[in-house]
Amino acid sequence: MTTHTHEAAQWFLRAYRSTLEANNAGDDGVADVLVRLGEQDVSASVAVAVEPRRLPACRFLPDVVAASLLSAPDMAAAIAALEEDLQWRQNPNYSDEAMGQPGYMNNYAYAEIIGPAGVYPGDDFLLGLFLLGPGIHYPNHTHPAPELYWILAGDSEWRVRDEPFDPREPGETIWHEPFVPHATCVGGTPLLCVWAWTRDVKHPAMLV
Ligand SMILES: [Fe+2]
Repeated sequence: MTTHTHEAAQWFLRAYRSTLEANNAGDDGVADVLVRLGEQDVSASVAVAVEPRRLPACRFLPDVVAASLLSAPDMAAAIAALEEDLQWRQNPNYSDEAMGQPGYMNNYAYAEIIGPAGVYPGDDFLLGLFLLGPGIHYPNHTHPAPELYWILAGDSEWRVRDEPFDPREPGETIWHEPFVPHATCVGGTPLLCVWAWTRDVKHPAMLV
């Protein structure tokens, strides 16, 4: 673990808590996430040496971080300080074929800040960043973990089950209850979200 990674991750967590509390306190799931986050050990003594890894979708980071300066400037600055230290990853169950779109995997990546591949291991809790490129459709999928997305940048539409897609703006949160199928469509600009799973995190997302 480098001091830089731990300090940047602490900045990210402070910005996450304070911006969510200030702007999204009454939203579904936000209180749950903040309680679970407060139960996590994020001290320097448990910080681990993440092996940094880039993926093709990381090419969107300069644009989405710049766009995030509008919706959440402290978060954007913290992400700029942290993103090169993270291990960008993909769900091993996903492929262009499985997602039904050529190029999907070149336009998709996530990174954990809290979790087994993150800076702090977490106790049945994940927190990280999620990237999708323009025009990508993340089809219906489900998982046992309750999930909070917080949009920082990008045009996107979201739905649960087979309901119509609903446009959502940067600064908004989206809460998914356990096992409720959900999907995301990205418009003309890449999507950056902070994402959290509050419990039951051992079972990965599965397409439905
Ligand atoms: Fe999900």
